[in-house]
Amino acid sequence: MNDFVRLTEINNVPDPGQAYFEVEDRMVVLFHVDGQFYCLDDVCTHDGGPLGEGTLAEYTIACPRHGAKFDIRTGQALSMPANQPTRSYEVRIDAGVVYVRVAGNPTSASPPATTSASATALSTASTSTSCTANSPCATLPCDSTSVVELSGGQHLTEDAVREEMKKVIDPELFVNIVDLGLVYVVDLHPGTAPGQTKVLIEMTMTSPACPAGPQLIQNSKMTVGNMPGVESVEVKIVMDPPWTPDRMTEAARDHLGIF
Ligand code: FES
Repeated sequence: MNDFVRLTEINNVPDPGQAYFEVEDRMVVLFHVDGQFYCLDDVCTHDGGPLGEGTLAEYTIACPRHGAKFDIRTGQALSMPANQPTRSYEVRIDAGVVYVRVAGNPTSASPPATTSASATALSTASTSTSCTANSPCATLPCDSTSVVELSGGQHLTEDAVREEMKKVIDPELFVNIVDLGLVYVVDLHPGTAPGQTKVLIEMTMTSPACPAGPQLIQNSKMTVGNMPGVESVEVKIVMDPPWTPDRMTEAARDHLGIF
């Protein structure tokens, strides 16, 4: 039970029902159906909708934003507009208390709380090359790399992380944060486990008082954290250099009608 974090007592979640919790910088939803508990990221993979606020019907949760449905037992996306699974976590019950295993859990599916199964770790080795950051690494030791090798010949790359971050949409401008030019730095660092990667992101906001800031940080962590081989995600907000509209891509300018 070392990796498991206490969530709540079983009686605190109605059956059927759900409740959401913050666990190690993540928002997760705990579902209680037919005496079993299941846990998913509180993030719809379509556009970051809060699944914990969705409608539960048997083993299906419907996102409150655009209606995508997910299987609460596995995290699998069951209907459009979502086509990627949301992350699922292993749950255990002990003495009437619900525990969830978040750290180091790379699986997209978990068994119900009454069974015991350990997550399968990626048995891979990371490779470290020269630092390719756009600016000095401010938080982690400077051992960053633009490519980390995963199992099966796959690679986690800075470009892949940036591409994934296009799923994070600014809720006021309805443009993704990459095309808005908010993502300054993506650094990949070897994780503590073989084949795992720590991702450091430096990003900015369109203004220091941007009300969407916490949501963008949370969604960035969730989105990148769901990528295979990602052990942890750290998001650092920087205001220097300040964001300016000329950082937007042409696609973002077109969308916003800026010429
Ligand atoms: S954000 Fe969930 S369906 Fe669009």
